[in-house]
Amino acid sequence: MQNFDFYSPTYFAFGKDTENRAGELVKRFGGSKVLIHYGGGSVVRSGLLDRVKASLEKEGLAFVELGGVQPNPRSGLVYEGIDLCKKENVDFILAVGGGSTIDSSKAIAAGTVYDGDFWDFYQGKRIEEALPVGTILTIAAAGSEGSPDSVITKEDGMFKRGASGDAIRPKFSILNPALTQTLPPYQTAAGITDIMAHLYERYLTNSEEVEVTDRLLEALLLTMIHEGPRVIADPNNYEARANIMWAGMMGHNNSCGVGRSQDWLSHMIEHELSALYDCAHGAGLAVTMPAVFTYEMKHNVMRFAQAAVRIWGCQMDFAHPEVTAKAGIEAFRSFLISIGMPKNFEELGAKEEDIPKLVQVLLYGDGGSGKISGFITLDEDSCTKIYKMMV
Ligand code: NZQ
Ligand code: ZN
Repeated sequence: MQNFDFYSPTYFAFGKDTENRAGELVKRFGGSKVLIHYGGGSVVRSGLLDRVKASLEKEGLAFVELGGVQPNPRSGLVYEGIDLCKKENVDFILAVGGGSTIDSSKAIAAGTVYDGDFWDFYQGKRIEEALPVGTILTIAAAGSEGSPDSVITKEDGMFKRGASGDAIRPKFSILNPALTQTLPPYQTAAGITDIMAHLYERYLTNSEEVEVTDRLLEALLLTMIHEGPRVIADPNNYEARANIMWAGMMGHNNSCGVGRSQDWLSHMIEHELSALYDCAHGAGLAVTMPAVFTYEMKHNVMRFAQAAVRIWGCQMDFAHPEVTAKAGIEAFRSFLISIGMPKNFEELGAKEEDIPKLVQVLLYGDGGSGKISGFITLDEDSCTKIYKMMV
């Protein structure tokens, strides 16, 4: 196991009706003038926004609002949010929505207290300071409610890139599984896929002797395999949604990823798909992961075989571990298809003729070095091969 620091100070309020505690929690973490940031309208239609405002008013908190965050959030609204926070002397940002809204909030939080262009953080500068952020999560997926990360797409060039720093870990996150019951089934399935991707990307490690995190990741993946189909069959199953929601948080606040190298090649390759086609990130991952894993398999067949046996219940073929490894990848692929995810470029809405462009932006866009690294290192040729495997 590698040395590590782990700092995860987010306060979680989990369960039914917890959104009514928004005002209490903003106050507890020092907010007095709040920016309520939200997406394309689901929180307006569900009545959640009104309940949140009532909760802030009850505590005597002033607020301004900024809606309109798109899935795969854009830089334009971040600049608007930064201007608004400066003009209104906002001292706390409350994200009400999914990963996109939370990530946009984190970007605004960092950009408001920074003299330069907030995009510097998405080109590798670490975020050391930010306004405090709280979240009320409406979809179990990205894990941004407990993570130190934010992913934004820069409209000029459509570069989708991530920024990181403990300063943008939410001060609190309100997790009420009932709020996710209004999700369309496709978004629920995309969320399940993203959570499983976060677990798999950590499972694919070059570190040795990481039994505790291996076993935690397996437990969470097994939970997703159990609960995913239950929630697809019955969207109002609160208990299944509760287990998925907490698995989504645990899967990405890095408690299961400490002390080990991680992969993230599937995420990097997918981010180009959601940037270009504006598809759901989880749906893009459903198409990306089987191709990336198949390409990576020969690097460490035994790791994939272990996943196949422990997670998917495959029989270990000691004479031919590559057969077991492949069976595990196929089981994962079939599972994703069974919950309604796309299986190839066509179903995702991606085009084969765009592959050179995808590879170009992935490897060279916005200052890229021509290579990406994770479980293995990929160059132009290998990335092209992987995208072709998804057709
Ligand atoms: O915008 P509204 O109207 O709210 O609709 C959203 C959106 O259309 C809808 N939705 C959310 N909750 C709902 C609901 N509809 C009905 N009822 C509800 N309760 O769902 C759609 C998707 O929302 P979005 O916030 O985009 O989903 P998600 O949480 O999957 O976030 C995706 C973004 O997070 C990034 C992704 O790349 C993508 O940009 N990621 C962020 C990470 C992080 N910060 O740590 C890590 C992830 O790997 C990921 O890359
Ligand atoms: Zn993800």
